[in-house]
Amino acid sequence: MRSIDQELAEIRAAGLWRSLDGRGSMGASAEHGLLSFASNDYLGLALDPEIAEAFHEGLRRFGHGSASSRLICGTSHAHLKLEAELAQLKGREACLTFSSGHAAAMGTIPALVGPEDVVIVDKLSHACLIDAAKLSGATLRVFPHNHLEKLETILRNVRAKQGSTPRILVITESVFSMDGDTSPLPELIEIKDRYQAWLLVDEAHGFGIFGENGGGLCEEMNVQSRVDIQMGTLSKAAGLAGGFIAGSPSLIELLVNRARSFIYSTAPPPALAHAARYAIELIRSTKGTELRAALQKNIEIFTQGTDLPTNRTPIIPIVLGGNEIALTISAQLKEQGFLVPAIRYPTVPRNRARLRVSLSAMHSSESILQLRKALDPHLPARGVP
Ligand SMILES: Cc1ncc(COP(=O)(O)O)c(C=O)c1O
Repeated sequence: MRSIDQELAEIRAAGLWRSLDGRGSMGASAEHGLLSFASNDYLGLALDPEIAEAFHEGLRRFGHGSASSRLICGTSHAHLKLEAELAQLKGREACLTFSSGHAAAMGTIPALVGPEDVVIVDKLSHACLIDAAKLSGATLRVFPHNHLEKLETILRNVRAKQGSTPRILVITESVFSMDGDTSPLPELIEIKDRYQAWLLVDEAHGFGIFGENGGGLCEEMNVQSRVDIQMGTLSKAAGLAGGFIAGSPSLIELLVNRARSFIYSTAPPPALAHAARYAIELIRSTKGTELRAALQKNIEIFTQGTDLPTNRTPIIPIVLGGNEIALTISAQLKEQGFLVPAIRYPTVPRNRARLRVSLSAMHSSESILQLRKALDPHLPARGVP
């Protein structure tokens, strides 16, 4: 039997070692004096004093532990109000929250499809979407990233061979977590409608960033009512924690009755739900609009004069190829005072290791230009402006 230590040695030898270093990092800050370009705190809300105050108020009013699963006695008014506000922001009739985005995927996908059905995922979808699809027992098909013709071919073949009975669930992200590009939602919707398939869009990295109210790319592209299952998380732009699904009332009722990660898990702290309501209010307020504008300005500052992709998203990958080169440059940047993580397989495909720069509305233009200068030799660049 292969020992755990042998397996650990193999992980090290492949340059895929990971460990925990306690370097917490929100907005643009990090412990140990590093300037962070690593967090998903795109609007800087993880340290927002008004949300912190709402958390305190939530503790006083609703308590810190929910003491039960949602269906037993763990549902407080704070959870229900948060769900009502999220549904509104997502332009849908109903919403259900989970303890994390990961739990939302793991509960929702197997509740919707089973062994008789088919799931078709974009190749670059997040691990939780792929794991949930596998857990469902449905036939799993993968289409090349954003490749609409290939997606349509798979859909056509499934319907031609299996008729109209199987449920087909197409899964994509609005903003891809490691590539920072977006999906062509209106075109995807036209295709999935043609084959009577459902579409799940994970807005983990689009929520709070896009749309007039910060509802995400579905809001910006005016397709909220046409996406069957809108998934999101409060752990990124909203600066807190907790996943959610928005959609039709029947979808949400089905999840309440069938989503195992929802049913068999203690409800998230009600104080957290209360704080999240404030985060949602803030995201849709004038301050939210200003933070989105500040973020867009920072994205422009970082990308101008380079051949880096300009997708208007705060995730900017600098693809280097091998694990070692990505780790070496990340370590060099750390010595210069910047926290920029190296992302390796299996988070990204083999030989596509990269630095993942993530920008926040909290970064100053000076700090962004300093990072640009430090990164200059590695950028597909036309030079620092
Ligand atoms: C695209 C995507 N979906 C889902 C998740 C999971 O969300 P959470 O961190 O709330 O579990 C993440 C976060 O890592 C993600 O990047």
